[in-house]
This record gives sequence, C-alpha cells and structure tokens, in this order.
Amino acid sequence: MSSFENLSYEERTFAPLPEFTAQANAQASIYDEAATDRLAFWAKQAEALHWGKKWDQVLDWQPPFAKWFVGGKLNASFNALDRHVEEGRGDRVAIYFEGEPGDSRAITYSQLLSEVKRAANALIELGIKDGDRVAIYLPMIPEAAVAMLACARIGAIHSVVFGGFSADSLITRIQDADASLVITADGGFRKGAAFGLKSIVDEALASEPNNVSKVLVVKRTGQPVAWKNDRDIWWNEALERQSPEHTAEFFDSEHPLFILYTSGTTGKPKGIFHTTGGYLTQAAFTHRMVFDIKPESDVYWCTADIGWITGHSYVVYGPLINGATQVMYEGTPDTPTKGRIFELIEKYKVSILYTAPTLIRTWMKWGEEFPKGSDLSSLRLLGSVGEPINPEAWIWYRDVIGGGRCPIVDTWWQTETGAIMISPLPGITATKPGSAMRALPGISAKVVNDEAEILGNGSGGYLVLTEPWPSMLRGIWGSEERYRETYWSRFDGKYFAGDGAKLDEDGAIWLLGRVDDVMLVSGHNISTTEVESALVSHPNVAEAAVVGAKDETTGQAIVAFVILRGGVPSIGGDELIKELKGHVAKHIGAIARPKQILVVNELPKTRSGKIMRRLLRDVAENRAVGDSTTLADPNVMKLIQSGLATSKSDD
Ligand code: WTA
Repeated sequence: MSSFENLSYEERTFAPLPEFTAQANAQASIYDEAATDRLAFWAKQAEALHWGKKWDQVLDWQPPFAKWFVGGKLNASFNALDRHVEEGRGDRVAIYFEGEPGDSRAITYSQLLSEVKRAANALIELGIKDGDRVAIYLPMIPEAAVAMLACARIGAIHSVVFGGFSADSLITRIQDADASLVITADGGFRKGAAFGLKSIVDEALASEPNNVSKVLVVKRTGQPVAWKNDRDIWWNEALERQSPEHTAEFFDSEHPLFILYTSGTTGKPKGIFHTTGGYLTQAAFTHRMVFDIKPESDVYWCTADIGWITGHSYVVYGPLINGATQVMYEGTPDTPTKGRIFELIEKYKVSILYTAPTLIRTWMKWGEEFPKGSDLSSLRLLGSVGEPINPEAWIWYRDVIGGGRCPIVDTWWQTETGAIMISPLPGITATKPGSAMRALPGISAKVVNDEAEILGNGSGGYLVLTEPWPSMLRGIWGSEERYRETYWSRFDGKYFAGDGAKLDEDGAIWLLGRVDDVMLVSGHNISTTEVESALVSHPNVAEAAVVGAKDETTGQAIVAFVILRGGVPSIGGDELIKELKGHVAKHIGAIARPKQILVVNELPKTRSGKIMRRLLRDVAENRAVGDSTTLADPNVMKLIQSGLATSKSDD
C-alpha cells in the first residue's frame, strides 16, 4: 500500500463565481483548442508579441533540444516598452515603487523606456555587445528591471544574482557565466537598516579568475563605498550623459535572453538558460490568462524578488509585455509593521496579489489583526507559488486576505520551465485547496511510476512533462551533459521535474514536494508535504516542517518541527504533542503518525522561502548540522538546537 492511494482527506471544492467567469480572460474552450493543435495554439499566443520578422517554423524538436519560432526575430525590451509607448500607452504607470524607508516613485511606460534606452547606450559605451554576459546584483528597485531590459535590448545576456547571496555565491556565478560587467548598488534597505552590496561585489571580484572589467553602481542608500577608479562607474553618471534615443535591434527567437542559477541537489548551482521568443510568449500568455490581467484597470503585485525566476517572468517580462501596472516593494513584510504588505495593498488598491505559501503561513502566525487593519477590498485574485500550499493556508488566504471572493491560482512551475505550467484558470477551473489542479492549455504533464509508466487517476508517482513547451530551459550554461543527465535521463524522453505528484480520483494534480522529500516509512511512500498539511490543519499549528529520519525498524521515521499559532488558546506540552500525532494519524492514516514532534520558534529557510529539510534531518538524526550558508538567517539552526536541548520529547 502506498500513502499516495489513500489521501482523499481534502474534499472541499470551490466552483468559479459566475461574476468572475463573466469577465474572465480565459474561455473554457481554450483547453480543447490547444489539444486539437498544440503548435497552432502556441503560434497564436506568439502572435500576441511584436515580431520584427515572423518565424518560419513553430517548433524544431530534436530531443532534448527545442527551438521555438525558428527564424523569427524580436526584441524583448521593445515588446515590454516601446510597443506600449508607440500604441499610446506611454502615460500608464508601469511601476509603483515603494522603498522600504517609505520613499516612493510612480514610473510610467514612457519614463521606463527612456531610462532603458539610456542604460542600453551606457552598456554600449562600456563595450558590451550581444551575447556578452552581464551580472546584475541589485536590491528590489526599479533599476533592476531597467538593467535587465537594457541588456535584453542590446542582446546581452543578463544573469541576475539575488542580492542576499554571499560574495562566494556571487563570484561562482560570475565565473560560471564568464560575465564581463557587474551592475550593482551601494546597498539597499532591509528591516529598517541599510545593507551593503558594492562591498560584497568588491570582495567577490577579489577572487580570480574573473573577466569583470567594469562595475556600474546605482546609488541607493548613499552609504560610503570603496572605489576603484579604473573599474567602478556610478550608474546615474553613466546614464545622464547618454542620448535618450536608442533603436532596438531584432534578435533571433532563439537568442539567449538570460541565465539564472538554481541550486542543484548536489554540487554547484546550475545556470539555467532561457532564450527569447518562446520564453516571452509563454511568460506573457500565462500572465494574461492565469492572473486574468486587465491592464487598464488592474494593479498587480508579485512579491517575488527579481533574483528569482518568479521576478523574471512575473515582475519584469510578463507584466510589462502585457502593459500592466504593478507595485514593486523593496523591503520585508514585517518592517516597520507586520501589516506593511496590507497597507500597501490599500494604498495602491492592488487587485491581483501573487505571493508564496511561506508568507501566507507567516501571516497566519502573526494573526488576523494585521490584514484586518487595512482595506483589502480592491483584491480580486490571489496567486501562490514556490512550494505546495497547505489546504489550511489556502483557505486562510482565501477567507482572510481574499474575503472569500477571490479565486486562488496555485501555480506550479520552476526556474527550468520559465513560466507557469500547472494552475487553475480563474473563472474556469473549480479549485481544491492545496491542488494546482491541471496543466495549462498547451502543456502536457503526466504522473509516472519508477518504470516510467504513465499512471491514471488515484495514483501517485513522479511529475513529468511529455511535450516540449515554449519557455522551457534551453540548457544548463556550459554543460550539455548535465542538462541531459539532470532532466532527461531518468524517464527516457520525458522531462523529469524532480517533484512527486499524485492524481486524485478527478484527475486533479497534487504536488507532493521534491522527490527527495518523499519519505519511506515501513515501505510506505509518505510525502513530507502531506504530513505538514495535516499538521497545519490543526488550529494550534502555524507552520510545520517534516523530515524522514533514519530508523532501525521502519527505515525512516517521521519527525515534525512545528511552530505554534499565536493567539489561539492552546493545550500545552505533552498533551498537545499527543494530540497532534493523533491528528495526523486521523487525517492521513496511522502510517503517517509522526514518531517525534518538536515545537520550535523558527524554521530554517532559504532566502527564497523554501524550508531546508536537509538541516532538520541532521537535527532529527542527531548529527552535526551541515552547510547552512544559504539560509536567510544562519542563526536559526542554533536557536532550534538550543531550544531542543531542553524540549526534546518522544513517546
Ligand atoms: C516547487 C519557482 C508545489 C517545486 C517558480 C518546484 C511548487 C520548485 C509550486 C521550483 C507549487 C513551485 N506547488 N510546489 N505551486 N511552485 N514549487 O525553480 O518543488 O525556485 O520543482 O521555481 O518549487 O522552484 P523554483
């Protein structure tokens, strides 16, 4: 028996509201349309872009290498900006920027375009040509989007490195991509204080070898910085002296647009690279359909940092190509108050919010008084991305943030997929809390077993993608072999996403987390995610992380780390632990009863909000904790361990 087969505890279904359906961008017929002729469907979506030259062939598929819209030519920056200005939308606000200290700027499409043109001219002055790699290491400020679009405009390949990464991580990425220019800032603001970025770039570039000859520095905080006269250039000075005119050149559809590093399960990070035509087609299409964007009236806000794929596809390329107005926020959700995000929703009348389950669970932990302190009635659609969303967090998001009226789109995708692959379509798809529901039109997702056999409803296994899609990665930078090996070797000819998934009786897709997060307890497959969801469905639990720890008798035993919810009257100590174990057993089955539950105040998370279960496994197995340098807060592991020394309870 596998736990995949008896997981039917989530039976709530939310049908689309007729008012929403009546105005939705998506029509139910779109699925059939795509199924009838997939390539014609994608060609139609590509036609929504501006092409300097139309393609000769929609897809050239030499597994595992795809080329989309072969022979076509376009410019990413032209599609994101010039087009809107030329078609009379130049005065529309593209970005409402809100800095953490409270400074704000509204930037129109015309203004953004002239900024990008000046930046493109500045890059040309610095000798950057098409195909060159430019590393971008910036806080969440509009200049990050300007830098990306300026690179794209001249055909240079941007490689954005998240501003929270260390000098070591930065130099590894600079070296791997062989970047010749770094665009950074003196620093940024976070949790009420300025932090340095230029100093980290200096430290990184002290490592050889590297071919970085120039560093462009945006002045953000005004803090003093060390300066190398022959290398460092202030961004504003470099831009001021440029002409505000620049004519975009059209590049090949398969011209590389960017490299973005994602951590591999082992070894060095993988430089996922994406090209232009297919990527932009799918980013814009999904942004329009999944978020139901109405560019004239919506105010859209994706809280992701530009350093992640979500920031690339759903802050920069998707929304700008669609001419949307969006909020960009520099800081953290708890500064100066835990109501900051909600205050900004009220201030800008945000109608579409796209965020991550980790933030939703954090809000649950903080309590309802914060969202209730602001007027959230402008919201009309809510999105989730990054990890499986627990049904209880989904319901809370829907009720407390969305006032029960907003469809929720739980969107599954990856750095590698470039754009959303599995998600409900708002107004069309009835949703189940915790399920990403079904593959988008034009996408073919299946669940297979170890023998690569495609499974039917009611079964669980591995998620694979069986047909190439426009925004798929074109490779791992510099390593064709690793690309084949990582994604295409396990299930011959199918793209292996690395995620476990199950299909329920209705065929809805439930993502179960990375397959290395699937536990094997007494021969039963149990997903960490499902145990976590069961725990979070208990009124006393705000957040939970579950790991499989080695166990002599059962192979692995389930160990759970839980954060209790504030403000809920709770039973204490051993009694609560017992109750929680029983609760999980009741929800999933006795085989899923955790052997040990540990109450903690924090969980170890990466800067993108993913729980690092590997470290918790070290604790659960009484080992020295492994490398924790990629944690957002490296002290968390110490806190957890010191807390546990006094509270370890087992029965
Ligand atoms: C996980 C983020 C469940 C998944 C866009 C995937 C999700 C990995 C979801 C990619 C979701 C992302 N439900 N799991 N809605 N969205 N994931 O590359 O394990 O940072 O493989 O891309 O996040 O993470 P990445």
